[in-house]
Amino acid sequence: MGTTQNPNNTQKRSVGRSSNSAYLDPRYWDERFSKEEHYEWLKDYSHFRHLIQAHLNPNSSVLELGCGNSQLSEDLFEDGITKITCTDLSAVAVQNMQKRLLSKGLKEIKVQEADMLDLPFSDESFDVVIEKGTTDVLFVDSGDPWNPKPSTIIKVMKMLKGVHRVLKPDGIFISISFGQPHFRRRLYDAPEFTWSVEWNTFGDGFHYFFYILRKGNRSTESDEASEKLETASIRLFQDELDSEDYIFRTNVDDLNS
Ligand SMILES: C[S@@+](CC[C@H](N)C(=O)[O-])C[C@H]1O[C@@H](n2cnc3c(N)ncnc32)[C@H](O)[C@@H]1O
Repeated sequence: MGTTQNPNNTQKRSVGRSSNSAYLDPRYWDERFSKEEHYEWLKDYSHFRHLIQAHLNPNSSVLELGCGNSQLSEDLFEDGITKITCTDLSAVAVQNMQKRLLSKGLKEIKVQEADMLDLPFSDESFDVVIEKGTTDVLFVDSGDPWNPKPSTIIKVMKMLKGVHRVLKPDGIFISISFGQPHFRRRLYDAPEFTWSVEWNTFGDGFHYFFYILRKGNRSTESDEASEKLETASIRLFQDELDSEDYIFRTNVDDLNS
């Protein structure tokens, strides 16, 4: 997100972070959330609402991974999606989110501490799993984006296998991310997954990616399409260059590729 859009940006800068690998440390997030009330990573719901609406309906059960202090669940609720479970690894984020939702009378939204690498949910229990900027955390110290470290691949595959497992047979995983398709598709397209992989972009300067992985929908065509990897054109506005998101994503993917 750009610095012009979030009045809390000054607040976030006071939270300590010595290197990008801090994003992998649960203590970093606990400390940050003990000081920060609200911050939307990437963009807020209004920027991708048009993309999400085609995939959700009032009966959809939705699992959000790494909710942080984002308003995504509230925005979805306002749009009629009431069966939402928000999760985060940070106990502080979960506590704050519970308080915030209760204070707004949104007690139907469940909030639960959960590690996306070890999801505590039964097989085939959600219609939709959604994350915004949470998968990106796993890539912050991935090294060469063309050839990520084995430790990064192990973690990402663990997360993807968990998401695939908890999705209903025709469920969808929506991943809203900085990660460009030529880096991400190789993982999303791993043979053990039955999902098809599509994506859209949104954003004015930098293109953010909106991936839709539809379980049980993999086809020969989608395998062939994965051969033709696309590179998004990237232009950055000054407010984006100044933002913490920019610093985050320079380690998430190689912008010079
Ligand atoms: C970049 S922030 C994104 C927050 C929020 N989704 C948003 O869009 O503003 C990443 C979030 O992932 C959470 N997180 C980090 N590692 C996680 C893990 N292994 N399982 C679940 N959540 C995790 C952090 O606590 C943080 O809330």
